[in-house]
This record gives sequence, C-alpha cells and structure tokens, in this order.
Amino acid sequence: MKIMVIGGGGREHALVWKLRESPRVNKLWCAPGNGGIADDATCLPVEAADLAGLVAIAEKLHPDLTIIGPELPLVNGLGDALRARNLAVIGPSQIAAQLEGSKIFSKQFLARHSIPTAKLYGEFATADEAYAALSSVPYPVVVKADGLCAGKGVLLAQTENEARDFITRAMLIQEFGAAGKRVILEETLEGNELSFILVTDGDKYAVLAPTRDHKRASDGDRGPNTGGMGAYSTDGLMTPELKATIETTIVEPTLRGLAADGIRYQGFLYIGLMLTKDGPKVLEFNCRLGDPETQAILARVDFDLAQALINLATRRFDPAEWKWKSGASACLVIASGGYPGRFKTGFIVHGLTATEKGSGVKVLHAGTKRQGDVIVTSGGRVLGVTASAPSLESALTSAYGAAAKIRFEGMHYRTDIGGGVGKARSAQD
Ligand code: AMP
Ligand code: GLY
Repeated sequence: MKIMVIGGGGREHALVWKLRESPRVNKLWCAPGNGGIADDATCLPVEAADLAGLVAIAEKLHPDLTIIGPELPLVNGLGDALRARNLAVIGPSQIAAQLEGSKIFSKQFLARHSIPTAKLYGEFATADEAYAALSSVPYPVVVKADGLCAGKGVLLAQTENEARDFITRAMLIQEFGAAGKRVILEETLEGNELSFILVTDGDKYAVLAPTRDHKRASDGDRGPNTGGMGAYSTDGLMTPELKATIETTIVEPTLRGLAADGIRYQGFLYIGLMLTKDGPKVLEFNCRLGDPETQAILARVDFDLAQALINLATRRFDPAEWKWKSGASACLVIASGGYPGRFKTGFIVHGLTATEKGSGVKVLHAGTKRQGDVIVTSGGRVLGVTASAPSLESALTSAYGAAAKIRFEGMHYRTDIGGGVGKARSAQD
C-alpha cells in the first residue's frame, strides 16, 4: 500500500510513525512533512495550504490512500477534489468541514439539532453591532472569530474593554483576515475540558482513546492560549457512564443531524467538550484529529492503523478494529522561546539521540527541519516528547526524563502536563 499524509506537524509525524508499523505499507509520502518525518517517509515540498499543488502531486503519485491531517486543506475542499479523481481519502468534505471552518455554521448546527453547547448571545457582521451587545452580556464572556484562526480566534474576556479590543482587532484591524469578518459572543462554560475524538463513515463510529489537552502556554493554566502545550490519555479521563452520556446527548444527535442536513461525514471528528455541572457541552467541533492529542492517542494504538484507515476509505469501516492499549500516554510539547508570540527559529536541537534510549518514548517532530546532519527549529511548537506506560505517572516520568535530555536555545515546556510527575493521579478526574 502507498499512503500519502498531508501536513507537517506533530500530529502528522504521529500518523506516519504508526502507519510505518503496518506490514501492509510499502511507501509513505508526507507533504510537506518536517525534519523528523523525513526519517520515516519521503517528504514532498508542497505546503498544506497549496490546494492545486496537492491535487497535482496526488494525481502524479496516485497513492492508495491520502490522509488529510490539518483543517485548512479540508476546509479548502481537498477531500472532494481527490475523491472526484477516484482517490481514496480520509477526511470530510468541504461542506462537512464547515463544522470547524465557521463557528456560526457550527452554532447554527448545534441549535438546529438541540445539542448541548454554550448559550449564544449573538452573531455579528459589523463591529458596531458587536460593541452594542457588550453592555447586555454577563462577564466573563467568550468572543470568537467565525473562521479559521490557528487557535488564536477565541478570547475569554473578563471585561467589556477586553471584549471590545478583541472585536476591534478582529473586525476592523482584520488581524485574522477574512476569518474575523464575523464574530460571535457566547456564554462562558466552567468545568474540565475533554477532547472527545471519533472516527466515522457517516453511519457507524469508533471512539478514540480519551485525551485532555493543555492549551495555555504556562504552568497552572496561565499565559496565552496556544495550539496545545501537551496532552495525556488515560481511560480514567472518561468513565463508561460519561462516555454513554456523551454518546447519547452529543455524538448520536450530531451524526443524525449531519445525515438530516444531507451531509455525509467521513473521517475524524474532534468534539471539544466542557464537562460542566449540567453535563457535557460542546465547545467546538474540529474536522480532524487534534494536535497534540493525536500523539498521545496513537501511542496507545493496538491495531493496524493503515489497514483500519483503508477499510474506512473503501466503505468497509469496522469500529471493532479500533482498540486501545490499557494504561496511559503523555505528550509534552517543547516550544520555541516566545511562542505563542514572536519567536526565532534556526536553532540546532541537541540531545535527540539520547532520548531514543528510553523505553516507550518517541520524540515526534513538529517545527523542525533537517539541515545537513543536524535538526534545527523551524516553528513555534518544535517537538512532542511522547511516552506510553502502564500508568499515567510512569508515562509522565518517561516523557519528562527524555525531555530533560533535549536542548535548544530558548526552549520551554510546561512541567504540569497530566498534573505533572508525582501529582498525576489527581489529573485523572
Ligand atoms: P475553540 O476554538 O472554540 O475550541 O476555543 C478554544 C478554547 O477556548 C477551548 O478549548 C476552551 O479552552 C476555550 N473556550 C471556547 N469556548 C468556550 C466557552 N464557551 N467557555 C469557556 N471556554 C471556552
Ligand atoms: N489541540 C487542540 C486542537 O488540535 O485543536
């Protein structure tokens, strides 16, 4: 089997890592890939934003399967373009990807199908209308830009001034480009977050190992939001009762709703949940796997991922194949100094070979590139040190032990992923 993965982050390195373990796979491409993916797959110099370039390379290489990692090519319609050329694809259609591509689309979908979510205070197409609403909403209030903003389009505003400032930046200064043309205001939900990710053929579905992401830049959930500074997975995150509640109140109405709206959804669906005292509520839909959740999830794979995905793409999806190792896993993101703000790149990463000696540890690359014999930094999130073990505490000990061997100028990582070593147990509930 020849497989092509689209994307070049830690999520895609995790996919390539597990696909390579399948005896069915004899060729792996990744576009554009990164410095670590280059060890496991042939990297192709086409960016995930280059729709025409990706279609052209797929037509030329004719992979047996293409797996689309990031949201941008999905929202741009890469899935439809490849299917139209009779190529097997994992990933939803452009219209289905609107669940992530437009917060207004997803809020309307949630309301239409009575799926629990934060109360919507309003959707606005002009800054003046949005400003006017600010005096009548309770604080803190959540302000969201409608379109794709790479994790930067959401603000939990404590005051009217903060909300006003965000609206100005999104709608008038247009910091997010067209993605900020419309904004929504919604209720602030309280509770623990859970990344609930499923894979579906539009009819049946399998639930992936539960994960929790740490979105803030610094320990103690302080600092600005990031794409994710680490994630962990343990079955303790989701009791069978909680899983059943999520399935009945959220997953089933969502899949039924998509079908009722005439949308066939194939691929991964990431449901960001807040576990509130009134039950789980939807914070967001993503039309793809999470990053860094995928690194933690795939560390627990107990099946042939390539085979299961081929089955999904060729309408032979079997949810029973998707089995997870017991125990736990963790992924610590090591980021460039300054991330998620401005940061410099081009620093040599030291200590990578030393980490390979630890058992159960895999260093997954994100913002790296190969320069001759060395790996240098090339992005904000640089590495995801990933470990699996029988318990969360031992997974964290292995991951933190390996991370301590890695050095590059300005690097930083959180020390409390999964509750941190020694405190892991309290993070499970
Ligand atoms: P989103 O892009 O909608 O997932 O938002 C990113 C992050 O902002 C979420 O993972 C939450 O941490 C936070 N967030 C979004 N919506 C809300 C909300 N209604 N209440 C509280 N936090 C939220
Ligand atoms: N880690 C959050 C996301 O992938 O959206």
